[in-house]
Amino acid sequence: MGCFSAVKVTDRVWWVGAIDWNLREFHGYQTGRGSTYNAFLVLDDKVTLIDTVKAPFFEEMRDRIASVIDPAKIDYIVSNHAEMDHSGALPRAIAEFQPEKVFCSVMGEKALRAHFGAALPVTAVKTGETLALGTNTLKFIETRMLHWPDSMASYLSGERVLFSQDAFGMHMAGSGRFAADYDKGVLYEEARSYFANILLVQAPKVAALLDDLAPLLPEVEIIAPDHGPIWCGERAEVLEWYRGFSAGKPEKRAVVLYDTMWHSTEKMANAVADGIIAAGVPAEVICLHAASRSAAMTRIMNAGILAVGTPTLNNNLYPSLADCLTYARGLRPTIALGATFGSFGWSGEGAKQAAEYLAQMKIEQPEPPLSVKYVPDADVLARCRELGGRLGAALLAKLNA
Ligand code: FEO
Repeated sequence: MGCFSAVKVTDRVWWVGAIDWNLREFHGYQTGRGSTYNAFLVLDDKVTLIDTVKAPFFEEMRDRIASVIDPAKIDYIVSNHAEMDHSGALPRAIAEFQPEKVFCSVMGEKALRAHFGAALPVTAVKTGETLALGTNTLKFIETRMLHWPDSMASYLSGERVLFSQDAFGMHMAGSGRFAADYDKGVLYEEARSYFANILLVQAPKVAALLDDLAPLLPEVEIIAPDHGPIWCGERAEVLEWYRGFSAGKPEKRAVVLYDTMWHSTEKMANAVADGIIAAGVPAEVICLHAASRSAAMTRIMNAGILAVGTPTLNNNLYPSLADCLTYARGLRPTIALGATFGSFGWSGEGAKQAAEYLAQMKIEQPEPPLSVKYVPDADVLARCRELGGRLGAALLAKLNA
């Protein structure tokens, strides 16, 4: 008997995944609360393992499976997603458990073989195909680009469990396996963070998936994602949150994102924010000394205004801004209005380069970059405040149009 146990989800479904308490980096997403890699064991005439875990966690998964059933009794493995946080342990699971068959999507077949070799014994399935397990039937639903081209979800009729893979997940380690084990505010923030940092680039596809799933959802009782807690009674809330996240509607709020060398750009950022707030729009001031790019991204998603302040360092915008704006540009947030500003010493490229990022992100910039040499005096800070005021008023006019 190993030191890890499975957790019962329903009479026939058990959580057999792994908890990664120390994960702090997930391809650029700084994961402050760690993560879980959820795998699920379905006990039916055909014993089925839904997804696996990251390769180093194979033994933990095997222990949890063995706490319920001899892993050699696994008949099928379903790989809903080829990314290695879910497939890393798949080759070893196939080698040790010797399942009769391994199922994945058509794109999954290509992706898994590209990762683990052409000989990997997988069978491709398409949307609408079903797999009889005995009492239950698995139905496959391809969810391309959520989060990779191969992604799919699997619905277990009978037990009424939707294995949703990355969708509806969050990077959060914890001893509780269910959403009811956590504070709702924490769940919302982590769901929002996951969406902003992983799924935002495909927000229209998420909205389309929610529409596609609509006929199925009334019968779904449990949504079991591949990361974070399992949604039971709270499933309607996470669906509603996803509707909001994926709608791409700029909200009545502003983010003033900046970094600073000698506090000049910081003074400008605070003055811009003060002007925005005075105009009646809530504003958050985020310094990249103090916040990670991922925390910033969570707030940038669907902001009405993004004002960016950057010093000029060696003819360039400040490195932390280059990092965060490159990351944000890739995730394609929908933002109504933008502006840039910043201090410089002997040349002033920073704010102009930041403006190019905002232009590439298709953010309307009604004002040219506001740059100041060395330290902003009272007059410059008044101009920053006025800039914020005009941005705030323009956003209110847009939202009320
Ligand atoms: Fe959790 Fe796209 O992998």
